[in-house]
Amino acid sequence: MSSRDFMLKGINLRGLLIMDAGTGAANTTFWLAKKLKEADGGKIISIDSNPETFPEAKRKLGKLAELVEFIEADLTCMPQIESESIDLIVCHATICAVNNRPLRAIKALSEFYRTLKKGGWLIIDDEYPLPKALKPEEEVQVKRWQTYKSIAELVDGEHYTEIYPEELEFAAKLVGFKDIEVQKFEGESLSEEVMSEWKEEMQEMVNKIDDEDLKIAFWKLIKKIWKKYKEEGGIFPPYYVMRMRK
Ligand SMILES: C[S@@+](CC[C@H](N)C(=O)[O-])C[C@H]1O[C@@H](n2cnc3c(N)ncnc32)[C@H](O)[C@@H]1O
Repeated sequence: MSSRDFMLKGINLRGLLIMDAGTGAANTTFWLAKKLKEADGGKIISIDSNPETFPEAKRKLGKLAELVEFIEADLTCMPQIESESIDLIVCHATICAVNNRPLRAIKALSEFYRTLKKGGWLIIDDEYPLPKALKPEEEVQVKRWQTYKSIAELVDGEHYTEIYPEELEFAAKLVGFKDIEVQKFEGESLSEEVMSEWKEEMQEMVNKIDDEDLKIAFWKLIKKIWKKYKEEGGIFPPYYVMRMRK
């Protein structure tokens, strides 16, 4: 079973109010909107703290945009969203972004719990933390992510922080969620598009570092990782899907 099939296994989407938690590149909003259309209706609210994601998301959705309302909000505090109003929340590749400071993921879980109807579903999927490569194909990913985190720490003092499923499950239970199911999936290939975006973002971030020697050292490292990717390719870490109910 694919991860997306596992996410929606046994859930009838017809007429549901769905929250896509973390619009980003809108891959999930697009997929959910197609599913909702096939199921004959319903509505999606797609939430991101960065409203700059919305115009591109609307463009990607085309006619399906009529099923979607975009809302600028912080997933850790959403006074705009009524309690017990949502049937299904999908949070794809975003819980690590929310968790850019310790315990923020718990705040988001508690907001998800508050806004879900009784019996409503929360589906979270995210990468496993990968502190070191367990196979050679993971080396590029480990290096590029360590580099991103080191630079982010220097310029912003915070960065995406992945969570082990056991710890996320513990936190979800504390908040009140039940019927928790977890499944692991293998990571896909790192595409040249992903790597190019990473390189561009790293260049912008390196320019914000004060120390000139550090800047040069990071430049060299980024070039070295890029070269390794071009020669050997790479894969994302494994990821997990966690399903639970209020
Ligand atoms: C990797 S992207 C999400 C990808 C998206 N789900 C998809 O399927 O294409 C992570 C998003 O989370 C958003 N984000 C990070 N922290 C957030 C927060 N506290 N509240 C709302 N959105 C947040 C970022 O702005 C970013 O757009």
